[in-house]
Amino acid sequence: MDISASAGPPTSTDDPVAAEVRPPGDAFPAQAPTPGATRPAGAVARALPVAVLAGCAVLALVVGFGPGPLRLPGLPSSGEGTYWALPFARLVGRIASVATLGWLLAAAVLLPARRVPVRRDREPSSADATATRAGDAATRTGAAATARAGDALPERAAGSRQRPLTSTARRCGRYAADAAVVWLIATLAELVFTLSDVSAQPAGDVFDLHALRSFVASTEQGRALLTVAALAAVVAIVGRTVTTTTAAGVLLALAAIGLLPPVLAGHAATSGDHAIAVVALAVHILAASAWVGGLLGLLSAVRLPAGSFGPALRRHSRFAAGAAAVTAVSGIGGAALRLGGFAPLWETRYGLLVTLKAVGLIAAVVLGGLLRRHVVARLATATPQTTTAAGTAAGAGATAEAGTTAGTVGRFIRLAGVELTVLTATLGLAVGLSRTAPPVDDALVPADPTRALLGYPMPPPVTAVRLAADWRIDWVFLSASVIAAGLYLAGLLRLRARGVRWPVGRTIAWLSGLAVVVFATSSGLGRYGPVLLSVHMTQHMLLSMLAPIPLVLGAPVTLALRAMHPARAPHPSGPREWLVALLHSWPVRVLTHPAWVTANFIGSLYALYLTSLLTTLMHNHLGHLYMNVHFLAVGVLFFELLIGVDPLPRRLPHPGRIIMLLSAVPFHTFLGIAIMSESSLLAAGWYGRLVRPWGVSALSDQHTAGAIVWAFGELPTFAVLIVLVIQWSRMDDRRTRARERRIAAAGDVDAELDAYNAYLARLAGGPTRRRTAATIGPAVTAAGGPITTTPPAPRDAADDDEGGGGRASAGGGG
Ligand code: HEM
Repeated sequence: MDISASAGPPTSTDDPVAAEVRPPGDAFPAQAPTPGATRPAGAVARALPVAVLAGCAVLALVVGFGPGPLRLPGLPSSGEGTYWALPFARLVGRIASVATLGWLLAAAVLLPARRVPVRRDREPSSADATATRAGDAATRTGAAATARAGDALPERAAGSRQRPLTSTARRCGRYAADAAVVWLIATLAELVFTLSDVSAQPAGDVFDLHALRSFVASTEQGRALLTVAALAAVVAIVGRTVTTTTAAGVLLALAAIGLLPPVLAGHAATSGDHAIAVVALAVHILAASAWVGGLLGLLSAVRLPAGSFGPALRRHSRFAAGAAAVTAVSGIGGAALRLGGFAPLWETRYGLLVTLKAVGLIAAVVLGGLLRRHVVARLATATPQTTTAAGTAAGAGATAEAGTTAGTVGRFIRLAGVELTVLTATLGLAVGLSRTAPPVDDALVPADPTRALLGYPMPPPVTAVRLAADWRIDWVFLSASVIAAGLYLAGLLRLRARGVRWPVGRTIAWLSGLAVVVFATSSGLGRYGPVLLSVHMTQHMLLSMLAPIPLVLGAPVTLALRAMHPARAPHPSGPREWLVALLHSWPVRVLTHPAWVTANFIGSLYALYLTSLLTTLMHNHLGHLYMNVHFLAVGVLFFELLIGVDPLPRRLPHPGRIIMLLSAVPFHTFLGIAIMSESSLLAAGWYGRLVRPWGVSALSDQHTAGAIVWAFGELPTFAVLIVLVIQWSRMDDRRTRARERRIAAAGDVDAELDAYNAYLARLAGGPTRRRTAATIGPAVTAAGGPITTTPPAPRDAADDDEGGGGRASAGGGG
């Protein structure tokens, strides 16, 4: 790891705050060491080896007290070498992946990016003015302004497109690349030892290209490890060159994806409720890795000035609290599935390891609490320019404060070092756990083929009462819906605290949309959906045709934009800015394009039911989950474009929306009729293989499914058509009223002139400045714009929801 390369003082002056108080080129002037002062690499170089040793020691104990390599009389064995090397290769890979993720997290999210100075020769454009009005300032300065902020798609602030990384963050990127090299090597080693393990041959015998290639081609485990290796290689190559937060964010996403493939091939994938187990473990690993990694990332930034380090620490502290909670809940959920009761907790080796992990988590949470109390709170009050390492600020008072701050940072390094050690030891336990057979292991229990397909026994004959009352909880959708409801209500409370009103109809719409989602996925529909195509089709229609209608009327994005605070200095961006950037991003522009949305809405129906895709997705743990998420997402996008009130990059005018809505109807009808008249079984590889001792034949159930598509294609369409027409007529009324108000108010002439001048300036590509009525004539000619005596009215958020470059009405539709 390239720690030595950065052990010296940073040479760049681009760290926020620091750049303001230090002379150029003198970022960290030579200074006498102060007690508590520590170099960033020094902090990492001391904490990391201790933590890795702790993880290895714990794993050695778990492996040493384990059952030893499997030896069956007369059969070959992989031997002691593989027995020890496989878990250690996995642990080294885990630690390296966590470090990669953590350093990228620090670079992209935790550490403040450089603020891009707005060029002096450029006067603020109308876009910048909108950004100020509708963005940060509006949200800061009170209820009325805040109420306008969410209505239009807020412009990104000037210079926000490219956020260059500070020198500290770039160093984190380089560390991440180095860690990714270790991750890559450890993963390749794990691949060899895994092949040795499953083929019961010593590692030396399987170390040949042909055997490895066929292992990768023919097993899920092999493919998973190769995918991880490929992602690690990308991060290793690109990590050294990242210079912006966006690039670091993309690499962070790749590293996060790289944590997941092994989940699909571990214990979770073979347990009874496999979809839930896989998702729980995926969430568990992501949350735990971000928690541990973020801590490591912060240890690399202790030399930042207090004004930057304090906020970074505060951000991580909040983030870590959430990650710890998610780690605990997902870990306990996953353990419950595999333990099947309380007694195995102390009666089995697997249970004991789970208990020890819980102890590790509690210890880390206590240490995190101490950090919060003794470090985060104190650094929050340090003056921005105080360096965390030594007293470089002028004056005795400043020197004393710098000394205190350095002491606080010294305490951070000690506490964070211990927390990192505890968590890495828990990682050692985790790897030991993944090599231990769980008490409930469905892979070892010979199950009937139907149960093996469904993941649960064939339910009794279907009835309306059972569909409504015999619930089978889909924990993924249930927890996501509970979180979505909680966040919405929290946003509502925040608005209320600021005195901003939020239409009660929207809240009711949001909560009822979520209720439909939960009912479609967790009621008897969830139990019988994989058994009967007609029930599956009902789920599909509820998720894509019914739930989205109230969900989009709930206007969650508008609420989020209004409720979230702008990022606090020195961070130039935070969740609100990320949301705005996402709304402006090209993937969102493409995904919300009316042509794409309509094609996706109709095309995915045909692709799913008229090809073998349905069978493939039903057979895959995550495929089934993805299918439901896709139904919902496609429906939400479709209805958002039609009747939604959230800001979007573009919207069709109302006549276009009506055409879009009506164009979907014949496709639904045609598909419904096609399924009703089909004489062979759709998804025969799934519904045809289930042994169902009751009810009508699978083919006649399929005909019912066709009728459901037909009916559902038409009924909600008419409801939406009515909403659309009402919205259209309301918008016309609002526009008329607004125009009348402007004409009645004499003072509004200036506002109209301003808007007109801004429009002309945009056309001419020049700066916006106020012109008198006398200058309008020549300007019109010079700009070549339309010659008119009536300047365009300034667009009011309340009357601008018609195809207006992403503006949406505050009152529309609710
Ligand atoms: C209440 C505390 C916890 C519980 C109940 C718990 C439970 C579990 C369970 C059941 C597994 C699945 C093992 C298998 O494949 O059979 C797991 C895996 C894992 N846990 Fe935890 N855990 C807890 C805390 C933690 C903490 C604090 C960390 C972070 C240091 C952590 C990191 C991991 C990792 C990385 C894995 C994946 C191991 C691998 O497949 O290599 N867990 N945990």
